[in-house]
Amino acid sequence: MSGHGEAQPMTARKSGPLKGVAEVPGDKSISHRALIFGAMAVGETRVTGLLEGQDVLDTAKAMRAFGADVTRHAPGVWTVNGVGVGGFREPADVIDCGNSGTGVRLIMGTMATSPITATFTGDASLRKRPMGRVTDPLSLFGARAYGRQGGRLPMTVVGAVDPVPVRYALPVASAQVKSAVLLAGLNAPGQTVVIEKEPTRDHSERMLLGFGAELVVEKTAEGNVITLTGRPELRPQTVAVPRDPSSAAFPTCAALIVEGSDILVPGVSQNLTRNGLYLTLVEMGAQIEFQNPREEGGEPVADLRVKFSPNLKGIEVPEERAPSMIDEYPILSVVAAFAEGTTVMRGVKELRVKESDRIDAMARGLEACGVRVEEDEDTLIVHGLGAGGVPGGATCATHLDHRIAMSFLVCGMAAKTAVAVDDASPILTSFPIFEGLMTGLGALLDRG
Ligand code: S3P
Repeated sequence: MSGHGEAQPMTARKSGPLKGVAEVPGDKSISHRALIFGAMAVGETRVTGLLEGQDVLDTAKAMRAFGADVTRHAPGVWTVNGVGVGGFREPADVIDCGNSGTGVRLIMGTMATSPITATFTGDASLRKRPMGRVTDPLSLFGARAYGRQGGRLPMTVVGAVDPVPVRYALPVASAQVKSAVLLAGLNAPGQTVVIEKEPTRDHSERMLLGFGAELVVEKTAEGNVITLTGRPELRPQTVAVPRDPSSAAFPTCAALIVEGSDILVPGVSQNLTRNGLYLTLVEMGAQIEFQNPREEGGEPVADLRVKFSPNLKGIEVPEERAPSMIDEYPILSVVAAFAEGTTVMRGVKELRVKESDRIDAMARGLEACGVRVEEDEDTLIVHGLGAGGVPGGATCATHLDHRIAMSFLVCGMAAKTAVAVDDASPILTSFPIFEGLMTGLGALLDRG
């Protein structure tokens, strides 16, 4: 549990071929939303395949604090008895969202148009992250926010007593901000409009429609114009959470760089707002077959057969692809280190305000592993050393960031010398079975 427990050092050693089936857990974004939208519907929402990572457990706890009845019945099987749009009660205590930017930003949006006050906090990573990007648009609804300097947590949000609907053009490509505005718009009368220049993950829009809200998405010259009609009566749903493509990225990329590997990663989302990494890997020469395309839990998915790819080539990642692979740049930069030539990642400054400054964390760790990198505010460039070419032999700092921890452990599975991370415990926020799943495929991971 990130920020709650002791640091857990972990070391990855050069591993034999990875073989087998990598069944990754449920999607984190969809799991948060299933609980939050369930809390906004009157009656019982049933969720299967819920990710039981710490981030989502913190959101479940928060929904209880706002008055919803959230119950776990079996692994991944949960019910939410919601309070209805505008039905949140005032929590009796501070809401601790742990490590989760998605949790805190979506919940702030959800409560901001109800006449209640809530105080939010999180772990040392979340307390560094900017909240102004959500509290600015929430103030247009009539909510007020009082936080630390720079719009940091802890922060108290005073919900609007008489909310007004809002028309808001997103200044950053952020599904979290888009979702916070839409969730706030649920309890505002009239139509709330969000305009996004670049498409970001669309799970909130899909789920709002599924729960019976009136929502229209128009593709225009200014981008997607999303219009939500406020004060709907949301109907409880059965939500089957598909597997998380961002988690699937780790076994997939490990198999590409560990010699002799051949694995199957079933049910990986092909949603165009999430699949940027997979397009990029194919362009780099990755041997990935997309088998059995179908729909699962309302998302297009395919089973990925992934083989060791000794001839990966560095590429320039198209900048406009960034929102559809924003969480995958850390692991892509590891794959890039095992490719021939240079991989250029531009337009990625959002990485600086994730669970850690991911440009800095990856640059420092890769350098320590013997890889040449260049960076500026908005760019990361990795000079690849080819298959098996990364020296390794470093301990990398993970800065309370699950994706940095998993990325360097994958690096260690293919590097010449073992790679350690100072703290693997943040992995529990998004991929609690990472260690068992990867060792089950043949990865050599040691605690300590
Ligand atoms: C998420 C959106 C992304 C992503 C995060 C999950 C979501 O953040 O990095 O892990 O569930 O909406 P931004 O929308 O701020 O880019």
